[in-house]
Formats: sequence, structure tokens, C-alpha cells
Amino acid sequence: MPESVPSVVDWEIEEVFDPLSEQFMACPYAAYAKARGTVPVAHHRGFDEYIVTGRAELHSALRDSTGLTSRHNLDGHVPIAPQAKEVLEGTLFYQPALYNLAGPAHTRFRAFINEYFTPRKLRVLEPRIREVARELAAELVAEGGDGAEGVDLLARFAYPLPYTVISEVIGVPVADRAAVKEWNNAWLLLQVAPLTPDQQLAFAGQLAAYEEYLRELLLTRADGAPEADEDLIGGLYRATLGEDPLCTLDQAVVALRFMIAAGHETTTNLIANAVHQLLTVPERWAAVVADPALAAAAVEETLRHDSSVQGALRVATEDVRIGDTLVPAGARVRVMFAAAGRDPEVVPDAEEFRLDRTGPPNHLGFGFGVHFCVGAPLARLETRVALETLAEALPQLRLADGFRPRHLPGGFIFHALESLPVTW
Ligand code: HEM
Repeated sequence: MPESVPSVVDWEIEEVFDPLSEQFMACPYAAYAKARGTVPVAHHRGFDEYIVTGRAELHSALRDSTGLTSRHNLDGHVPIAPQAKEVLEGTLFYQPALYNLAGPAHTRFRAFINEYFTPRKLRVLEPRIREVARELAAELVAEGGDGAEGVDLLARFAYPLPYTVISEVIGVPVADRAAVKEWNNAWLLLQVAPLTPDQQLAFAGQLAAYEEYLRELLLTRADGAPEADEDLIGGLYRATLGEDPLCTLDQAVVALRFMIAAGHETTTNLIANAVHQLLTVPERWAAVVADPALAAAAVEETLRHDSSVQGALRVATEDVRIGDTLVPAGARVRVMFAAAGRDPEVVPDAEEFRLDRTGPPNHLGFGFGVHFCVGAPLARLETRVALETLAEALPQLRLADGFRPRHLPGGFIFHALESLPVTW
């Protein structure tokens, strides 16, 4: 047993940190609040994992990218039944993405990906983001929003906006986007959802097809078509060529799969969480409608208060000290970014969602250190544009009568609404 792990609270940790329970998914923040002050690095015996919720401990863990590696981030979060596991072992499911490594390979790959999200690229992209947002909002306006059950803003706006944008940046053909979304869901569900062995087996089969599709898509650029420079698929394909290639074709497939998911799921859910927080108190929404400049503050406050990404996995490559706790080599560590945003020691009224906070962002919503989110500028831009567009097109927006938030299974990773029914 490592030193300094207060075993006296172990039973509470397991009861309170149960990511398969509805209670935890509805409000993981109660668990963080309970742990943060007493066991900022808590050993969860059920999962045999260390859960980090203290802010200083999070910074220390995230600074140590070699002692605490990200390479198992995409291995999944739930036990996989043997038959499905056999299928997955024949795929790239357990292959780390280059993002998840540390050192020169990671630095070089990040530099390459960053080129697609520079301020200049985003300036060029912004009118297109606005155009897609306005088209989606116009469809809703045309339909009318007075039905008793409301319209699901998540499915009709928060999802298609970032999915269309990232598909265009990457170069996923329009005709394939529905299939890609299905495959993407299968991949994510295999990682975080409590599935039956049969469901796992079915999704594992789909994963092989997904990888084959992405490989073929990359190879369509082998003929050197002129558009090869313009999207991520073209760039990634070229990155596999030459004497000192940036990555192999398999690594390009894994990177693409990661970018498709990271490039929309996270932002879809951030937009939905933001709108939910704003509509929960009608005066908040009225304030954004009256002053759309508040949209930027709403984005930052959602990242702090109710981010779509809650945490990530690290694995100790050696004995590592996090705060007062010695984490043994080989241990799994959950870095709960979302716990830092609600630390009352650094954020006044941390449990409150407020639009009048000043100063630089005081959260770890996009992580920290060498793995800081590559897509943060795009996510911020898309979410801000989403709120501005909705405020302009649907100023009377409100939650559908009787709406009770229900969250998707997200493990220790996501905090995502199932749906967001609204009326106007
Ligand atoms: C609201 C939206 C988003 C949130 C809350 C979010 C959050 C995060 C967080 C917390 C990390 C750090 C993970 C870790 O340390 O293990 C991360 C990494 C990453 N994100 Fe995002 N993300 C968002 C949107 C995006 C978008 C739009 C893209 C791509 C266009 C993206 C691409 C990535 C990549 C590639 C990494 C890995 C970086 C690395 O390991 O070097 N994310 N994101």
C-alpha cells in the first residue's frame, strides 16, 4: 500500500466516484467537492485508480508528462469482454495516438497539427462557421418552436455545427459523414459506455470497418490531387511519405479517428452545456441577448463550471509523487480537469455560474502542459459563434416545459447531455 493514502475514506471514494451511476453523471461536481479538500489524490479500490481533484496536485501531475504518460488515454474505460477484445486486438484500438506520447515524436506531430488551427486559419474559417450556424438557426426559426415537446437543440444545432466544420477541415466527404458519425459513436461507446458483451462485439466489428474506411480515404490522396494541401487528410497522407516521415499510415488512421471525435463531440457538448446553463436562469439568457459580447464570458464560464471534458487518464511509468501521495509505477491516474475549475480556494463562489467574472481564464477545461488541447481556439470560436447566432436568431429561447437534464454515460471523461429540448 503506498504511503499517505488515507484508507479511512476509501469506502466513500468508491461510493461517491461511481461513473456508472446516474447520480454521478448528473453532478460529478459534488464528488469533486467532497474529495478535493480531504483526499486530493484518492485511491479508488474498485477501479484501482488514483483520482486527482486537488488543483495543485493536478498541475503537478500534468507537468510530469514522462512519469505520468498519456499513452493509454484511448484504451477505453470499461472492461471489454474476451470475444470483443480479440477483435479489437486485430485493430488499432489499443494503439496510442501520437498525441498521447511525450518527447520529440509528440512535439513534432503537434507542431504539424497546430498548423491547421493557427489564428490565421481560424480567421479564414470564422465566416464559414457563422454561415453554418446561421443556416442551422434559420431552419429552426422556419420550423417554429412552439410544440409542446420542444426541439432538441443538441441534435439540431449543437451537433451539426462543429461536426460540419471539423469534417470540412479534415476533408470527410459529405456523403460519408453519417456513416463516419456512426463509427465514431461505436468507438466512443466502446471506451466509456456500459455495454453488453454482444454490443461490444458488434461495435468492435464496426471499428475494423471504420479503420479500413479511413485508410482508404487517406490513400485517395496518393494520386497527388491538387486539393491535397487543403485539408488534414491531404496533409496527413503526405506526412507518411518521404525519407523521414512524420507518421506511418496506421498512425495517420489513429490520428484521424482522434481528430474527428475530439473535433466535434467535445464542442457539441460544450455548446449544449453552455446553452443549458444560460437558459436555466432566464435572466442569464436575456443578458446575452441584450449584450452578445457576453457570449465569450459564457464560453469561459462553461469551461470552468460545466465543461464537456471532465478528465483524462495517465499511467505512472515510475513511482511518482503527486502532492503527499506516492503513486506506484504502473498505477492508473485520473486527472480530473473539471475539479480545478470549481476550487473555492481560487474561484470565488466557485459553484455559481456567473457572466461577470474578470481576469484570465481560471480553469483547466482544455488541460494543461504539453497535452494542452490543440483545438482550444477552434472550440472557443465555435461555441462563441453558436451562442451569438442563437441569441440573434432565437432571442425568446427557453427550456421546454418539464425538462429534466439527463446525461449520457461518460465515465470519468465526458459530461454530456442526452438532449436539450427547447422552445421559443
Ligand atoms: C469544448 C471543446 C474541447 C474541450 C473541452 C477539449 C478538451 C481537451 C483536453 C482537456 C485535452 C487534454 C487531454 C489530456 O491532457 O490528456 C485536450 C487535448 C486535445 N484536444 Fe481538445 N478539447 C476540445 C475541443 C477540441 C477540438 C475542436 C479539437 C480539434 C480540432 C481538439 C483536439 C485535441 C487534441 C488533438 C488533443 C491532444 C493534444 C495532445 O495530447 O498533445 N480538441 N482537449
